Amino acid sequence: MSRSNDLSLDTVIYGASDLGCSVYEMLQDVASTNLVGFLDDYLNFPKHNINAQVIGDHHYLSKRSQPINVIICIGDNTKRRFIFEKISQIDSVRFSGFIHPEAWIEKSARVSESAIVFPSAYVGAQCRIGSNTIVHPNSTISAYSSVGDFALIAPNASIGSGADISSGVLIGLGATVNPGVSIGESAKIGASAAVIKNVVAKRCVMGVPSA
Ligand SMILES: CC(C)(COP(=O)(O)OP(=O)(O)OC[C@H]1O[C@@H](n2cnc3c(N)ncnc32)[C@H](O)[C@@H]1OP(=O)(O)O)[C@@H](O)C(=O)NCCC(=O)NCCS
Repeated sequence: MSRSNDLSLDTVIYGASDLGCSVYEMLQDVASTNLVGFLDDYLNFPKHNINAQVIGDHHYLSKRSQPINVIICIGDNTKRRFIFEKISQIDSVRFSGFIHPEAWIEKSARVSESAIVFPSAYVGAQCRIGSNTIVHPNSTISAYSSVGDFALIAPNASIGSGADISSGVLIGLGATVNPGVSIGESAKIGASAAVIKNVVAKRCVMGVPSA
C-alpha cells in the first residue's frame, strides 16, 4: 500500500463536509499542493458554501491512471477506515495527510504521513500517532503516549504522558485522559470527560470522573 506526501502530485480531499472544508482551507493557506478538489460519495455535497468542486466519488480514483494523493477527511472513525479499505487497492491512490506548520511536534515524536494535525496541537517527545488519525487544534498529547490508527483527538483534549490510545478511539472535545491510562480499541470518550482509569475496547464513557 503506497503512502506519500509527494507535493508534485495532484491532491484530492475525500469528504466534502466540515473536516474536509477545514483541511482544504489550511492546504490553500500554507501548503503548495496541486489541490484538484473533493471526492464525496454523497453527491448532494457540498453542504457548505465552498468554492472548490466535488469532482466525483470513489470511481474517480479507479478511472485515474496517474498517481494522486488522497487525504481522507471523514470525522467518523469507522467510516474513515471503511473508505480507506475501499480505496486502498486502487493503483492511483497514494494516502497522504497534513501537518499544519503551527502544530508543535517534538523531534522524537513519530506521526504517520497520513495523519492530520491541526494548528496549535502539541505532540510530545517519543509519541506515536498512527495512520489516518486526526489531531484537532489545541489538543495535547503528552510525552511517551501512543495514539493508534483511525483515531480522533478532538479540540482541547488533553492526554497525559504515557497514555495508550488504541486504534479507532474517539477522545471527545475537551476530554482529559490521565497519564498512563489505556483506552481500548474503538472506545469513545465523551466531551469534557475526565478518564482516570483504563477503558476497555468499544466502551463509551463520559463524565467526571468518567465511567
Ligand atoms: C459520549 C457520547 C459519545 C455519547 O453519545 P451517545 O451515545 O449518542 O449518547 P446520547 O447523546 O444519546 O446521550 C446519552 C446520555 O448521556 C449523556 N451524555 C452524552 N454526552 C455526555 C457527555 N459528554 N458528558 C456527560 N453526559 C453526556 C446525555 O445527557 C444522555 O443522558 P440521559 O440518558 O440522562 O438523557 C457523545 O455525547 C460525546 O460526548 N461525543 C463526543 C463528540 C465529540 O467531541 N466529537 C469530536 C468533534 S471534533
